[in-house]
Amino acid sequence: MTLLSLNAVSMNFAGLQALRDVNISIEPGERRAIIGPNGAGKTTLFNIISGELSPSSGTVTLAGRTVTNLTPERMFRLGLARTFQKNSLFLDLTTQENVRLAVQAHQRQGHHWFQPWWAFDAVNERTRRVLEGAGLWSRRLEPAKNLSYGEQRQLEMAIALAGEPALLLLDEPTAGMSVAETASSVATIGALPRDLTLLIIEHDMDTVFALADRITVLDHGLVIADDVPDVVRNDEQVRAVYLGEPL
Ligand SMILES: Nc1ncnc2c1ncn2[C@@H]1O[C@H](COP(=O)(O)OP(=O)(O)OP(=O)(O)O)[C@@H](O)[C@H]1O
Ligand SMILES: [Mg+2]
Repeated sequence: MTLLSLNAVSMNFAGLQALRDVNISIEPGERRAIIGPNGAGKTTLFNIISGELSPSSGTVTLAGRTVTNLTPERMFRLGLARTFQKNSLFLDLTTQENVRLAVQAHQRQGHHWFQPWWAFDAVNERTRRVLEGAGLWSRRLEPAKNLSYGEQRQLEMAIALAGEPALLLLDEPTAGMSVAETASSVATIGALPRDLTLLIIEHDMDTVFALADRITVLDHGLVIADDVPDVVRNDEQVRAVYLGEPL
């Protein structure tokens, strides 16, 4: 069964059509890259999927259920997590505290006002595993503001993963990173569980081709290609949009 589908989704911002009749279908466990020039509508697409925005028209379904106008909180509870294009950390808290807050936010889903003693152990354990998975265990006591830029992006991803989401949306996870930080991030993302469905907006083509099973190309709000990497790489329309840039 399709995990996520966008059906004829359009988005207008005061006369600007950011998305035009977008149809996208994502299978469970798929790793899908969303690419396209600046202003193509990629982040808008994420905002619609995650509930930050309601589309002007069209529908979104998650595992067969219509979720078009659900809030980000509801989408989060249905297993969706995301990172943002811009930094969203608590910079004065430690790395570990940032992750712990995210783990606790997820534990509170059951609306338990009272937490039994064993819940704290579970939070600690989950926090440790998330920090290790992100390669940040040795940096756990460092305030987030002292982390390198690349480490901060890794921490954002760790926070998104804290609740073991089924669907993870990454908005330009390697933007602004050094070559070494990018390599480390690609390795971290590549090592995520295979049953986690991943949508990744990315400008770095090496990263796209290293991670994606399938690529959707947006240009001026239109889907101009949606296929496996080898087909997209050789698509004439895509090449025209990326004129001068190696694909
Ligand atoms: N809240 C908003 N109000 C008005 N216009 C917006 C809003 N959000 C996005 N836009 C416009 O919609 C278009 C698509 O923006 P979007 O951020 O989705 O592009 P993008 O593909 O993510 O670009 P980038 O690669 O630069 O991040 C742009 O022209 C942008 O200026
Ligand atoms: Mg964007």
